[in-house]
Amino acid sequence: MSKKFYITTPIYYVNARPHIGHAYTTIACDTIALRHRMLGDETFFLTGTDEHGQKIERAAEAAGKTPQQYADEISGEFRQLWKRMGISNDDFIRTTEPRHIKRLQELFRRIRDNGFIYKGVYTGQYCVSDELYVDGAQPGDPCPTCGRITETVKEENYFFKLSAFQDKLLALYANPEFIRPETRRNEVISFVRSGLRDLSVSRSTFSWGVPVPDDPKHVIYVWFDALANYITAIGYGSSHAGAQEAFKKFWPADVQMVGKEIVRFHCVYWPAFLMAAGLPVPKAIVAHGWLLFEESKMSKSRGNIVRTETILDVLGADALRYFLLREVVFGQDGSFSFDALVQRYNSDLANGLGNLASRTLTMINRYFKGEVPYPSHAASKKPADDAIAEAARKTIREFATLFDQFQFSRALESAWALVAAVDKYIVENEPWSLGEKQDEDSRSRLATVLYTAAEALRIVTALAYPIIPDATAKIWAQMGLGDIKKLALNELAWGQLHLGTTLGEVQPVFPRADKSAIERMQRMEDEQRPALATESPAAKTNAAPSAVGTPAAAQAPATEATNNKISVDDFAKVELRVGQVKVAERVPKSDKLLRLEIDIGTEVRQVLAGIAEAYAPETLVGRKVVIVANLAPRKLRGYESNGMIVAASLEGGRPVLASFLEEVPIGARLK
Ligand code: MSP
Repeated sequence: MSKKFYITTPIYYVNARPHIGHAYTTIACDTIALRHRMLGDETFFLTGTDEHGQKIERAAEAAGKTPQQYADEISGEFRQLWKRMGISNDDFIRTTEPRHIKRLQELFRRIRDNGFIYKGVYTGQYCVSDELYVDGAQPGDPCPTCGRITETVKEENYFFKLSAFQDKLLALYANPEFIRPETRRNEVISFVRSGLRDLSVSRSTFSWGVPVPDDPKHVIYVWFDALANYITAIGYGSSHAGAQEAFKKFWPADVQMVGKEIVRFHCVYWPAFLMAAGLPVPKAIVAHGWLLFEESKMSKSRGNIVRTETILDVLGADALRYFLLREVVFGQDGSFSFDALVQRYNSDLANGLGNLASRTLTMINRYFKGEVPYPSHAASKKPADDAIAEAARKTIREFATLFDQFQFSRALESAWALVAAVDKYIVENEPWSLGEKQDEDSRSRLATVLYTAAEALRIVTALAYPIIPDATAKIWAQMGLGDIKKLALNELAWGQLHLGTTLGEVQPVFPRADKSAIERMQRMEDEQRPALATESPAAKTNAAPSAVGTPAAAQAPATEATNNKISVDDFAKVELRVGQVKVAERVPKSDKLLRLEIDIGTEVRQVLAGIAEAYAPETLVGRKVVIVANLAPRKLRGYESNGMIVAASLEGGRPVLASFLEEVPIGARLK
């Protein structure tokens, strides 16, 4: 009987366009879903978008749109991107859909009826960005999670009796499978041990949310709303028999994948809500680390995102999937760079699997008219052939174990060790020399060598399918094996490649990428980034100054915690000077960039600034601006940028240049 398997991604906020940090979570889940489908499990893979709350309401307002219009647009971008990448999700839930809203209200009602939701008054600090009350914070204090300044609120709220679940949660964590990896489990355990306060689960100071049943002045807290998606999507709270069936079949989820920053919501609040509703908790919450770019977490607020589309355009989805799962040790943070991406692509895909496939299949074409030969004579066998067979058997076992423990990079390492072993085997057995000879022994030996290579290739291809589905499907078809999706992975074993299998047309699956691929991707991103770089984390809620011009890499690293103070000496390292714009012009073929020549007293600097949408160039000439004068130069669209202009960044990223009320001399230093 087939097992069921239900896997979810977190649902993505619609205040930011999708980037490869989001794609990372989705790819990891997609890979797991593909493997389970191939194992014959009845698999359901859910993703979607998180569309309510004050953060989205404010972002929409800044963009001059209604929250619904704004959410429609960005949710659409996520859907399109997943479609373009061939992501195999079975459903896409939006929290603004009627099916979710009705079923969410049902969940709220049920927990209230069970006595775990009550009305009370909350006074304290609130972080709009994280949609979180900050216990113990004073007015003006920053949020401990993101560093943004909290806002003071006093609200009549509905509260969830989280405090009643401390023991039950700790008992749940006794199961080591529930939270993975271990480090996250330990963090959650110590958080819960330190005591739980009741949680406010409604808001009445804004309206963009789902009304509390029977009390529509309040909207349901966005995290309560969002977490519920995992059950509303599969039919919880529906009156339709079909939906109820699906819920019964798939809940509890087998794997709920989350980024490390949202572990608390998923491992503390979510199981407590479910317990309060009398529902089973998921089997496993699996946390991954962050994708870093230029040393800090890739995120819209830091302006250091890389768009997935750029990589898809230049190298394709498989390259990104392979890179992320091979290069990042799952559970830990990992760095992204175009150089590393292209290097991995060339070494493991173009020169590794791609080359193995094309050389093996080309030789079968050349020497056996495109039909897989069979190692017929025992006399033609050598120990090296058995060694490859044995290595392949070991790889099948190892890969499964590592993959099921979410150790994707090690699983791939093991499969690629087989690729390397077969490459070596081919070199040592010189099929091309055997192919020159016509005697029976040489023919027989050649058959054995090419069969062995092809069979190992088939096994690596089958194992790698969940990670690189497009390329492996092509190799499979080139091997004459039909549709790779029909393979029963749990039966995969050495020796299943049949004699006489006729190859399909052989074509390279991973053309080599050269340096120009890196430059192309870099250029595509540079064109986007200056405009995005105008938003600093603090600017998001407070319109604090930020620097415009050089991409965000050069901006100060984001604040991660409250102990984010820098010394006066640190500040003194930043050379801020008054400059006067002498020349301002648009950069050809860019909507966002202006090329400025700025007199800073000692010299005239060329600076590129992403402010063209906010300032006409002619209005800037003669204007005094503040410039960060000691930044390392950076090339943008072929121009060298020597510094940044300081601007406040408003919601939506609109820059407003810093200026002075009094007269200031050119070159004056700001300190
Ligand atoms: N809406 C909430 C989740 C609600 S689930 C009930 C949310 N959304 S998010 O869009 O901010 O993040 C969604 C997922 O994307 C998270 O797992 C998050 O960790 C992941 N990533 C976003 N940026 C990322 C990186 N730079 N690196 C890795 N993953 C990151 O949180």
